[in-house]
Amino acid sequence: MENIASYIREHKSRFIDELIDLLRIPSVSADSAYSQDVWNTAKKVEEKLKEAGCDVTEICETPGYPVVYAEKIIDPELPTVLVYGHYDVQPADPIELWNSDPFEPIIKKTELHPEGAIFARGACDDKGQMYMHVKAVEYMIKNNNLPCNVKFMIEGEEEVGSANLGWFIERNHDKLKNDVILISDTGMISKETPSITTGLRGLSYVEVEVTGPNRDLHSGLYGGAVANPINILNKMIASLHDENNHITIPGFYDKVEELSTEERAAMAEAPFSLDNYKSALNIKDVHGEKGYTTNERNSIRPTLDVNGIWGGYIGEGAKTVIPSKAFAKISMRLVPDQDWQEITTLFKKHFESIAPDCVTVKVTPHHGGQAYVTPIDSIGYQAASKAYEATFGKTPIPQRSGGSIPIVALFEKELESKTILMGFGLDSDAIHSPNEHFGIWNYLKGIETIPHFYKYFTELYK
Ligand code: BES
Ligand code: MN
Ligand code: MN
Repeated sequence: MENIASYIREHKSRFIDELIDLLRIPSVSADSAYSQDVWNTAKKVEEKLKEAGCDVTEICETPGYPVVYAEKIIDPELPTVLVYGHYDVQPADPIELWNSDPFEPIIKKTELHPEGAIFARGACDDKGQMYMHVKAVEYMIKNNNLPCNVKFMIEGEEEVGSANLGWFIERNHDKLKNDVILISDTGMISKETPSITTGLRGLSYVEVEVTGPNRDLHSGLYGGAVANPINILNKMIASLHDENNHITIPGFYDKVEELSTEERAAMAEAPFSLDNYKSALNIKDVHGEKGYTTNERNSIRPTLDVNGIWGGYIGEGAKTVIPSKAFAKISMRLVPDQDWQEITTLFKKHFESIAPDCVTVKVTPHHGGQAYVTPIDSIGYQAASKAYEATFGKTPIPQRSGGSIPIVALFEKELESKTILMGFGLDSDAIHSPNEHFGIWNYLKGIETIPHFYKYFTELYK
């Protein structure tokens, strides 16, 4: 693998330019106005996989956006790595908070990234991280040192819940057969402290609608005598946490996996500065469940958060009105052993039961997924660990993440293989936020580290 570093030096500017081209296409899966762009991105990814040297490349249609599939099979006797990633991105808004056009990528130096970072929607999540794999495989194919088989499955609906990926997997078990699934769609502790993500939280996402009177009313003529659905909704939401920031839904914690004192002590050893955390977010204090540290609160504990809330008059000036309806989008992050469908049912039952008679409540489930944890004694984890050692000179720390990639639990169930999450992003990359970026150092380090994984995995597999 000595020459991966020199291959990167030689092709660095092309690697950056190609990623920039990919980032220019606004593949926002949530907004149908971009549907042609999402398709165009799929075609571009397919073209790039072909150029990288894959023998088979396909745009596989699904009931939604297509899955890009590619493979390079060198010997059926050798193990197969299946790379998963997503080419869709989150909406860019609020657009006015971006310092540059989200789909006109620019390179800027920052304090953390003196080598420069690419600013664009999807730069880190997940176009940049997915494309590291395309370039790493290009290097191995062009230099005749791909040690095993590789398959790619790059989807276009991750940011909207991967509704059709289950459909695709069910119909393509043979095609997707593999010995390990490799994903770069998470982060690491810092540039100095590599880490491997060993857990993801599950998710239950619901929308609620509270209806009061049959029409908007004059707030003077009716105010005080008729329930205001916004007031009621806020009260109901507030009651979902108690004074210890514990979630009050009956049964919510019944199946939550409790970590041992040793496991929690091991977690606490990962380098972390609460002061830096607070100053990076410009907050005076953190907030969360009593009895848990910040890193526990955002990884091994379940949560309930309002993602959006609306209703009534929000235009210019004032309008005196009691609205007929109020709405909220609510997500619950789940941990191992909580079942997302069960939690969704518990939420619905509870939310309906706390509604006073003066309003009616409707709860609509959106999407969800199970949490995931992976052991560190698998050959996949060991290969990843050795790969980081080779390029960072340090053993990576296993760490659970608070984010979700709901499809990972399904991979294990349907494809019966373990997933290794080799993320190269940083918390400061602002994924899903304005001014998302990905450090060029991180991008190139990812490309450099990935071929080592293939080598060690193939060796350990024997
Ligand atoms: N790549 C993220 C998930 C992630 C980021 C996990 C960083 C760990 C560290 C993924 O694209 C994502 O945003 N997932 C969504 C869930 C999905 C169902 C919309 C999430 O976590 O909100
Ligand atoms: Mn992602
Ligand atoms: Mn995302």
